[in-house]
Amino acid sequence: MRKKRSWAEPFKIKVVELLKTTTREEREKAIKEAGFNTFLLKSDDVYIDLLTDSGTSAMSDVQWSSMMLGDEAYAGSKNFYSLEKTIQEYYSYKYLVPTHQGRGAEHILSQLMIKEGDYIPGNMYFTTTRLHQEKAGGNFVDVIVDEAHDPSSEFPWKGNVNISKLEKLINKVGADKVPYISYEGCVNMCGGQPFSMENIKELRKVCDKHDIAIMLDATRCAENAYFIKEKEKGYENKSVKEILYEICSYTDGCTMSAKKDSLVNIGGFFACNDEELYKKAQNMCVIFEGLHTYGGMAGRDMEALAQGIKESVMDEHQKARIGQTKYLGQNLLAEGIPIVVPCGGHAIFLDAKAFLPHLDQDDFPAQTLAAELYLESGIRAMERGNVSAGRDPETGKNRRPPLELVRLTLPRRVYTQAHMDVTTEAIVEVYKNRDKITGLKFEYEPEYLRFFQARFSKK
Ligand code: F0G
Repeated sequence: MRKKRSWAEPFKIKVVELLKTTTREEREKAIKEAGFNTFLLKSDDVYIDLLTDSGTSAMSDVQWSSMMLGDEAYAGSKNFYSLEKTIQEYYSYKYLVPTHQGRGAEHILSQLMIKEGDYIPGNMYFTTTRLHQEKAGGNFVDVIVDEAHDPSSEFPWKGNVNISKLEKLINKVGADKVPYISYEGCVNMCGGQPFSMENIKELRKVCDKHDIAIMLDATRCAENAYFIKEKEKGYENKSVKEILYEICSYTDGCTMSAKKDSLVNIGGFFACNDEELYKKAQNMCVIFEGLHTYGGMAGRDMEALAQGIKESVMDEHQKARIGQTKYLGQNLLAEGIPIVVPCGGHAIFLDAKAFLPHLDQDDFPAQTLAAELYLESGIRAMERGNVSAGRDPETGKNRRPPLELVRLTLPRRVYTQAHMDVTTEAIVEVYKNRDKITGLKFEYEPEYLRFFQARFSKK
């Protein structure tokens, strides 16, 4: 029998950042001061930070040295042209409008394409994306496959759009009320789950038939491309770079939070193929972001981003990246911890409803579990459930989404397998004592994106 061969990260570590440990007493004080919201903790009080993979990745030596090439001219910085060329080569789009981060691009796209009363179908909502759609007068409609809402379904393409749900919507409201479909790679809110190439090709056909655009949320599409390479027939010998290009080629444009896949700490962009739309987006950019050749990024940020994109499509990088997530997931499954399966790209998600079945969803099980994990270990995770979903604008009630999850998000190239082992052990400890855990209630509830700034107390 062939012996199992291990894999290792395709890099070595040149600079380290020391971690701080805290006592349980210190953590009790910190989480109370933070209103039981891990977003309000000071990072200095955190041991292993799995809050997000956004802007938290480690840049390479080449990225750091490319920052010295920053051309900080107000207009026409050479780094803009370098980034533009990179987007054309890797993401296929003709036109680039840089933005300060993803939501800047979402703002521009939503304001330009959505009219009052429009419907925007999507493969599950994302918090900032839906809010921008709603603020532009649109209504988000979830057309993701049913499996995405079931944490225990092993379906490999939980990010797929259910084409018949989409067609039903188009037939009901009329294609002229659907400006575009919002299509996300490695869908964040259902566990970092990919779509298949087959799905996007089918989607293209339906959208062509009805003259509807496909706007990609490309934030984690390089990771999605790796899943296609791993799991979809006919793609095993293609590179992540080729697959990413092919995905984009079926779409009309994208919004991008470069803080994820692209291995930088800040930045984003809007890109498209339509010249008219591009011109309008450039014009919006100068109002809300900055001049259209920097859009809120410094020249050095744009150069580091161009390099980060090149590194993000390296097959070995993605193999280790997705491999680390899977390693954590498999450790947890072996211990009988309820997580979303299959393991996603950027994170492992604890199923808080199954973890704390004695709590009602309005006691915020996922928010509670994230706070308990911090108390136990100093590890910081994030709620992705009832708090993130917000209230239904019509009924004013909590949306109570089917998925009530705690996200253990892995920054890229930052933590080692030993950190994953420590994380597993801490979760197992919380699981052992889960019966004693009580829920939370709101002390302060902000109007928009409440999960970022809400405060809670013990029920
Ligand atoms: N789209 C997706 C799929 C995202 O995950 C995010 C951000 C955005 C858009 C918005 O981008 O933060 O650069 O403005 N996700 C972060 C997270 C916040 O932690 O998942 P942004």
